Amino acid sequence: MKKTVEVSAPGKLMLFGEHAVVYDRPCIVIAVNQRLTVRTSFYPGNKIIIDAPNVGIVGYETEISRLGKGNNIPKGVRFIEIAVANFFDLYKVSSGLKIETRSDFSSEFGFGSSSAVTVGTVTSLFRLFQIDCSKKDIFDLCFETVFSIQGLGSGFDIASAIWGGALYFVNRGKKIEPLKIKKLPLLVGYTGVKADTAPLVNKVASLRERNPKIVDSMFDTIKDIVEDARVCLEKQDLKGLGELMNLNQGLLDSLGVGSDKLSCMINAARESGAYGAKLSGAGGGDCMIALAPSGKKQNVESAMKVAGGFPVNIKFEPEGVKIVNL
Ligand code: PMV
Repeated sequence: MKKTVEVSAPGKLMLFGEHAVVYDRPCIVIAVNQRLTVRTSFYPGNKIIIDAPNVGIVGYETEISRLGKGNNIPKGVRFIEIAVANFFDLYKVSSGLKIETRSDFSSEFGFGSSSAVTVGTVTSLFRLFQIDCSKKDIFDLCFETVFSIQGLGSGFDIASAIWGGALYFVNRGKKIEPLKIKKLPLLVGYTGVKADTAPLVNKVASLRERNPKIVDSMFDTIKDIVEDARVCLEKQDLKGLGELMNLNQGLLDSLGVGSDKLSCMINAARESGAYGAKLSGAGGGDCMIALAPSGKKQNVESAMKVAGGFPVNIKFEPEGVKIVNL
């Protein structure tokens, strides 16, 4: 039996369909080439020991009998601890463990560190305890874990960390369909503002409560955009995709999840030659994305900077969660 397993999982970027996906419309998400690594080992005794230096936590420990029960589990280890508790519960196993994480990416950017660490932890446990699983088994356990902590979310970020590449995804994994794409000349700009997903999801929920017909028809239009974007992506129709990004952004602005900074950066990208640009994720801050011809990359990045943003060097990542051989 292996004593140590190391697993790495990628971050994600939402391309189309944010917010509407929470209401059972589809979205398109891609994995990005920033990865988080989870190394899990059997450890003598009855404690789970966690080192997550990337979130400032070293030497955290909890008794197996107290797993997931503390009121003040630090945020940086909560996803790991609850994932272990759920795994032990569901598969009727138990052991002392040491879990160490390393991350390529800053959790500031909103690339999905919580989902990547949950996927990494659960996948490492399946391997360590030698329990066969499908990708969907990993998804279901991770979704349960993340949902029990956050109380909301479609799970698109979890699917992306598991499958990698580009996915057509419907709320809670009702559909998870890999898309064939070769390359995507995507530029990513960080606003410098950390966004908080929950208040933005709640803001859209209360707008919908006041205006159900209008907001639902906007979600239907976003669904149409996602369906067309799927076709454009597979045909590598970048101009078409850019136009759809702009249409999606108009609807996100109408839903009230834009921000001045995002608008400045999005407009700057469009004016400097991008095919299209939009926010990515919940909105309010975090990142915007632009699609630009290769000859315009420099111009678009400079324009993003002038608008107060920070270009982030990110590429499409075809590979999802994987076991790293030790
Ligand atoms: O803020 P992010 O990157 O976690 O994206 C949130 C996307 C939403 O559609 C608003 C919520 C969700 O879980 O799908």
